[in-house]
Amino acid sequence: MKKRLFSGIQPSGDVHIGNYLGAIRNWVRLIDQFECIFCIVDYHAITIEYDPKDMKKRILNAAAVNIASGLDPGRCILFVQSHVPEHTELAWILNTVTPMGHLERMTQYKDKSRQHAENINAGLFNYPVLQAADILLYKSDAVPVGEDQVQHIELAREIARKFNMRYGEIFPEPKEILSEAPRIMGLDGKTKMSKSLGNYISLIESPESIRKKLSAAVTDENRKRRTDTGNPDICNLFTLHKYFSTKEQIEYVQGACRTAEIGCVECKRVLSDNVAEALTPVRLRYEELVKDPDFLLGILSEGAARCKRMAEDTMGDARKRMGLL
Ligand code: TYM
Repeated sequence: MKKRLFSGIQPSGDVHIGNYLGAIRNWVRLIDQFECIFCIVDYHAITIEYDPKDMKKRILNAAAVNIASGLDPGRCILFVQSHVPEHTELAWILNTVTPMGHLERMTQYKDKSRQHAENINAGLFNYPVLQAADILLYKSDAVPVGEDQVQHIELAREIARKFNMRYGEIFPEPKEILSEAPRIMGLDGKTKMSKSLGNYISLIESPESIRKKLSAAVTDENRKRRTDTGNPDICNLFTLHKYFSTKEQIEYVQGACRTAEIGCVECKRVLSDNVAEALTPVRLRYEELVKDPDFLLGILSEGAARCKRMAEDTMGDARKRMGLL
């Protein structure tokens, strides 16, 4: 029997190369090794203000971009969180074994409270409990995520432990799986690449837009003039070269930057070409998929039906252990 793997992504606008390198690429690699469930977490996305008019499109776009990036629906489950109501039902139950103090310590909650100071709602606070419910509902063993989610997975383990201690062993303690790029920095070189900060390259960005964004991206800030030598070790774009360029190109730009044989413009040109080449097939497949919403809805509803059966089993088990009628 294969072990079970679960992961999720918010339908909050563009999926970017940080999501891809930190999580999605790993999902694709692990697809045959585990029984994989991938979830578009719309109930998480509503914890910050949003326009209801856009949500349906955002969900379908998230499905399309994930499939275009390699999540083959024939080899994994892809579904929408709100289509399986057991997620919120289990979240309520898990709330009762989650200490408030643990939630107060969550760095994502603190960051988001700062970013959305006018709307610090209880959903934002309980966000990690719903995330724990997502994972535990399917008794998942493995959760591939970027570094920013590790604290939430640790909490999910703690919640599983607390539930098991109180009501008996039901939930395995899930473990995070990190990729070799667990934290991709934004194009400003200072903050994590993130949808909300707008410092990203999306997976469906056009080659012209990739070129434009990269040409404005921050490099080694000590290199003021073309004739100054550069230091790739502190250049954020050199990190991206490691994921998009060939071994020979990486060696060349590294050496030529250190000796000022090439300037940032030339280095960025090589990177832009490679990023554009890697993303073009994703964008073309995405454009095909979004033309056919019925096809996407079919995949998502089949995914939800498969999840629903597992979710009902877990909830039945939990209710019984908890002495509910
Ligand atoms: P979300 O939608 O913010 O991001 C999706 C995945 O992308 C990773 N990621 C990054 N990795 C490397 N560098 C970056 N700059 C970067 N930005 C994002 C994230 O770590 C994540 O793996 N709370 C989750 C969604 C969620 C979930 C779950 C995940 C809900 N329930 C259950 C796992 C299991 C989130 O907001 O991810």
